[in-house]
Amino acid sequence: MSATKRRGIVLAGGTGSRLLPTTRSISKQLLPVYDKPMIYYPLSVLMLADITEILIITRPEERHLFERLLGDGAQWGLRLDYATQDAPRGIAEAFIIGEKFLDGAPVAMVLGDNIFYGEGLGRTLRRAGRAGDPAAIFAYYVQNPRDYGVVEFDADGAVRSIEEKPSQPRSSYAVTGLYFYDERAPAMARALKPSARGEIEITDLNRRYLDEGVLKVHVLGRGAAWLDMGTHDSLLEAGNYVATIERRQGLKIACPEEIAFRRGLIGLDQLRALAEAMGQTDYGRYLLALTEESRTYLSDEIEASPRFVKPR
Ligand code: G1P
Repeated sequence: MSATKRRGIVLAGGTGSRLLPTTRSISKQLLPVYDKPMIYYPLSVLMLADITEILIITRPEERHLFERLLGDGAQWGLRLDYATQDAPRGIAEAFIIGEKFLDGAPVAMVLGDNIFYGEGLGRTLRRAGRAGDPAAIFAYYVQNPRDYGVVEFDADGAVRSIEEKPSQPRSSYAVTGLYFYDERAPAMARALKPSARGEIEITDLNRRYLDEGVLKVHVLGRGAAWLDMGTHDSLLEAGNYVATIERRQGLKIACPEEIAFRRGLIGLDQLRALAEAMGQTDYGRYLLALTEESRTYLSDEIEASPRFVKPR
């Protein structure tokens, strides 16, 4: 395993063509998913994976909007950087765009429109990151595998094949939009040839690692939720899903301030300052309640973090 700490990339480019006319003037990843901007969800995934240095890749014309929303990340104990993708040339191009930022570190990349949620997710991601596999991806059983990268397993659970949007899927396991690679990812992405749709495909990169015999596929079980938000229906469904869970529990999904606090990236004073800056909003009240919590909610995120500072 590389000694350099893994760095993250959130890919928030793309034209959002399936969400027109909404996405004519604003990028998809800035749209609200219930009570927060879409990009909070993938960003939270990287934070749960213990990644604090993150590159946000956007369309050039919207970079300033992401910067206004997220700043340099210091408010959440992160270091955020920005870069742009001026045309949709494929997911794997993110590693070429991010090559300088990565500076020889291994990488975790997440697509800006993916939600991952479920008990123990943070622990699973941290374990996957630490395992030292040259490439690790996550598969999820879905009804419509044709819409995704599809991974096929043999009887022993070893990966047999991986295909991008096959018309005859060999399994129901979709490849989710979260990818962990070693420091060779930029060089390997450069060596890929564009596909028929003119993009350098993440599936081709995965196949390179598979051909080397080093592609690890973690299956996210049926107790986990993986949602993507490329269409009007899936965007609404994701919002409803988040609303249902959050209203039931009074706990937020993908709240970066909370994750930063629970993972020890920021202290109580900073959490209180963030809460106060949010004013009399539900979101602000939620953060404020975290600073006053007497019955600390015991999640695996807390137990796993030696740096967690208990309120009071
Ligand atoms: C992309 C990838 C695909 C993956 C999916 C996950 O598809 O090409 O392999 O399963 O993301 O969201 P897209 O829908 O961006 O074309």
